[in-house]
Amino acid sequence: MPTCLINIARLLNPRENGTWEELESAALLFDERVVAWGEQGEVLEKAQRGGAQIVDAGNRLVTPGLVDSHTHPAFAEPRAGEFELRCQGKSYKDIAALGGGIRSSVRALRAISEDELVERMLPRLDRFLEYGTTTIEAKSGYGLSTTEELKQLCAIKRCGETHPLEMIPTLLAAHEVPDEYRSNKAQYLDLIVNETIPSVVERKLARFCDVFCEEGVFSVEESRRVLEAGKKHGLIPKLHADQLSDTGGAKLAAEVGAASADHLDHVSDEGIERMVRAGVVFNLLPGAVLFLGLNRYPDARRILKMGGSLALSTDFNPGSSPTQNLPLMMTLAGSFCQLSPRETLWAATRGGARALRLEDRLGHLTPGAQADVTVWDCAEERQIPYWYGMNQVHQVYKRGRLIIVNGKIIPSDI
Ligand code: NIG
Ligand code: FE
Repeated sequence: MPTCLINIARLLNPRENGTWEELESAALLFDERVVAWGEQGEVLEKAQRGGAQIVDAGNRLVTPGLVDSHTHPAFAEPRAGEFELRCQGKSYKDIAALGGGIRSSVRALRAISEDELVERMLPRLDRFLEYGTTTIEAKSGYGLSTTEELKQLCAIKRCGETHPLEMIPTLLAAHEVPDEYRSNKAQYLDLIVNETIPSVVERKLARFCDVFCEEGVFSVEESRRVLEAGKKHGLIPKLHADQLSDTGGAKLAAEVGAASADHLDHVSDEGIERMVRAGVVFNLLPGAVLFLGLNRYPDARRILKMGGSLALSTDFNPGSSPTQNLPLMMTLAGSFCQLSPRETLWAATRGGARALRLEDRLGHLTPGAQADVTVWDCAEERQIPYWYGMNQVHQVYKRGRLIIVNGKIIPSDI
């Protein structure tokens, strides 16, 4: 049955060019897709003709569901011990060098079955919806062998089939060099290129191919090799770029025509310029900066001034950003990157959809778009990042179906 949300205090629809369509005292009519929105009387008439159920939004703000375009949800265990080490002054790199970090997540992942992984992931996915997110990009990258990467991607696919949160899968076999290839990185790259990528593509388990391009992990040359191989098989490139240092990742993103380059805390002007020219989205992940106790946030104002398009993501993962709270990222991007609430909301909706190349149906509420809708427990968008870390979600609809009520998932719908 179609739904008509009435008594909307403000309806915000992000436009392609970074501006907004907005309406006060509005109504929104949708089934699986958005049918119409506008002045209440007009829409209500249409809704009644179509037999829609009328829902009172209670004078609240309505936006598209948030799109989190960079997450790593397929992990086995939290890494709270590493957090404690960091509280004692050890850095993310120190911990990785000691065999912790991503490699410890790899050991834990390999020790559990695909069924067990699905079980552990499902409750994590609830949290995304509870914070207003309706779609996430979900990476592998804790398996680091063909079988184990497939295990993660199969788990992601199965979760997507049973859970209302939509997941867009990414192969991240080049996340780290696994223990068994430490002395022969080239051989691991051969494996990714010759075996892992073709196996994943054959099973249609990923849309994107990602690489952690960073000093001490994969160089620009190595990253290029993986991304080009992925592209040859039809995977869209994206990458972790210029996070801890300026390694030239942004330039590589432009060169290979990536959908997005992510992190970018250390991106150079030349990198920005090339990304803008190539139409690569700048995906900002300020949660990782905060959680790792670092102080260099991406220069978002400069990126916007140079003509770049922003996305904003949680980077949800057990090492550098264990949170599903995308509105909190809006707070960080406001306080540390000087972005306005509207700019961060755009990045977390339409910008995320653009980073996933799914802007035709996600990230906005233009009639015809997928009816992914978040009703906020406030009347205007500034309150979303203002109440930092607090949940401001009233309701969430995914493909027109009510999933979240009063900020909590409806148990019967899981
Ligand atoms: O985006 N930088 C690489 N990957 C993640 C961290 C993953 C982990 O530590 O488990 C990131 O920050
Ligand atoms: Fe990441």
